[in-house]
Amino acid sequence: MTTTLDTRLPPAYPPRRRNWDPVVKLTHWSVVAAILANALATEEGSSAHVWVGYALAAVLALRLLWGLIGPAEARFTAFPPSPRRALAHIRDIGSGKASHHASHNPLGALMVYAIWSCLGVIIATGIAMAGLPNQPREGAELRETVAAASVEREDGEEGEGGKESPLGEVHESAVNLLYLLIVLHIAGVAFETRRNGRDVVLAMVPGNR
Ligand code: HEM
Ligand code: HEM
Repeated sequence: MTTTLDTRLPPAYPPRRRNWDPVVKLTHWSVVAAILANALATEEGSSAHVWVGYALAAVLALRLLWGLIGPAEARFTAFPPSPRRALAHIRDIGSGKASHHASHNPLGALMVYAIWSCLGVIIATGIAMAGLPNQPREGAELRETVAAASVEREDGEEGEGGKESPLGEVHESAVNLLYLLIVLHIAGVAFETRRNGRDVVLAMVPGNR
């Protein structure tokens, strides 16, 4: 197996061990926690669900701002969405060529933008259904009643309250797509770990320098 450095990277990115700055680490694990909370712990459409959603929106906004003003590795310019570079990366993997990337590799970069876009749709549809935090909450409270009423009827059909709004359907489809992306993301991280060692995950662990 040959080891070549990715000469397409600018000289500002020397081949050194990757380590994400604290904002990238904090926002990554906060996004994970918010998704787990809304997927497993909160009741769909409840005020806890919506507040976790607002927190998720704030964390994502911070990460996107960091993409403009953060350190070099965290900036969007360090991991542009480029299908052409992603294909070249796949070819490198196929030919057993190792390449170094100070930021996300080109394939990982596409995944990161896909996850963020999906979260954007989930947040936008969620807020469209629930309203902004400082708006009157009658809509959301009404939905809590609706969610409570949407228990399955004995014949297996959904009750009146279970009728889905188009926004709810988009929200739910984006959530299902997000789950698929997360599975692929974790598979990608596991694959990179096998190729490049434990550094890939350690670089995202808080406190690890
Ligand atoms: C990634 C995190 C999230 C997950 C996993 C998630 C998951 C879900 C699921 C599975 C539903 C049921 C969909 C349906 O059957 O209609 C739902 C409903 C809902 N979600 Fe989320 N959600 C998330 C984020 C958000 C955010 C960010 C907001 C708003 C700030 C939000 C607000 C709502 C509301 C208001 C409903 C009720 C929809 C209805 O009554 O039809 N969610 N969510
Ligand atoms: C809800 C589940 C998850 C979501 C939505 C998610 C999402 C993301 C996103 C958006 C990034 C880009 C980070 C940034 O630039 O700010 C990322 C990177 C990363 N994630 Fe996750 N992640 C999840 C779970 C995990 C888990 C369970 C692990 C550990 C096994 C993990 C390990 C990593 C690593 C190592 C990176 C950096 C990849 C690289 O070096 O290019 N993620 N993840």
